[in-house]
Amino acid sequence: MTSIYDTPHDELQNANQSWWDNNPMTYDWQETLQVERGTEAFYREIDARFFESSRHFGHPTYPDQPPFSEQIDYAGLKGKRVLEIGCGMGATAAALARNGLDLSAVDITPTAIEQTTTRFKQLGLVADIRQADAEQLPFDDNTFDLVWSWGVIHHSANMQQIIHEIHRTLKPGGKTQIMVYNRHSIRNWVLAGLMEGVLKGQFFKKPYEEILRDVTDGYIARHLTPRQARNMFADFNNIHIEFTCLDDLSYVPGNTFVERNLVGKLIPRAMKDRWDHWVRTKFGWFLYLEATK
Ligand SMILES: C[S@@+](CC[C@H](N)C(=O)[O-])C[C@H]1O[C@@H](n2cnc3c(N)ncnc32)[C@H](O)[C@@H]1O
Repeated sequence: MTSIYDTPHDELQNANQSWWDNNPMTYDWQETLQVERGTEAFYREIDARFFESSRHFGHPTYPDQPPFSEQIDYAGLKGKRVLEIGCGMGATAAALARNGLDLSAVDITPTAIEQTTTRFKQLGLVADIRQADAEQLPFDDNTFDLVWSWGVIHHSANMQQIIHEIHRTLKPGGKTQIMVYNRHSIRNWVLAGLMEGVLKGQFFKKPYEEILRDVTDGYIARHLTPRQARNMFADFNNIHIEFTCLDDLSYVPGNTFVERNLVGKLIPRAMKDRWDHWVRTKFGWFLYLEATK
């Protein structure tokens, strides 16, 4: 059985870049965006979708709090050098810049850079926004106090190389905060393992890595166990890992029926919320990692 991960590096990275150029991160997998790209309404809608779906993890009272204020020390980082890797449509980048952080942002696609630059112009925000492959960051050693990256590095041809670059460009004592895909998530057991692997017989045709790619975004979509993540970040200190995922838990068997018909009638809302929290934090699709240099 062949795997795309056997493809030579440059070919794989070109495929990664083209995929994201053709499918920029506009949060439209469930409902197509009805607004023109680059307009204020477009950015508002992206922020709403992105930050609503991660509200429970990073910012329960968003928009009163900035996104990921549970993770990002906005006050402590004021005026400090911060890098976002894989800025996409500039949603988090704008929040970082708006709150006074000295921001650099990179993305591998021209589309992401164009969209982030347009957003910053509209908002009157200033940052160093550049097209770059994070496998070769165009920054000196020991530059940043924080390197932030949400849902990016597992899409790159050589993820370990990005981690080396994060380490190289962080100041001693600097922090990285990243989200990658968690291999053992309930989403993937249901969508990749049960639905594709068993019911559609894909286990006979392709490796599990390939089935995982089929049920997610990106040309490349690596999924890590916590042990693999710790090994990849072995040069760092104080590694901390948590699990989370998007708001949508409709792939949890029976969830939609329960949500629609039973919550509020037979099951109190608070009980359902506790169950959702347990599922997300134990078996969420996102592996969130913090570490220091
Ligand atoms: C899932 S999107 C996430 C975008 C944004 N962080 C967000 O959460 O909305 C992945 C982004 O990573 C970018 N990307 C993929 N490989 C990259 C690399 N090697 N260097 C820089 N950016 C990369 C893609 O172009 C895309 O914009």
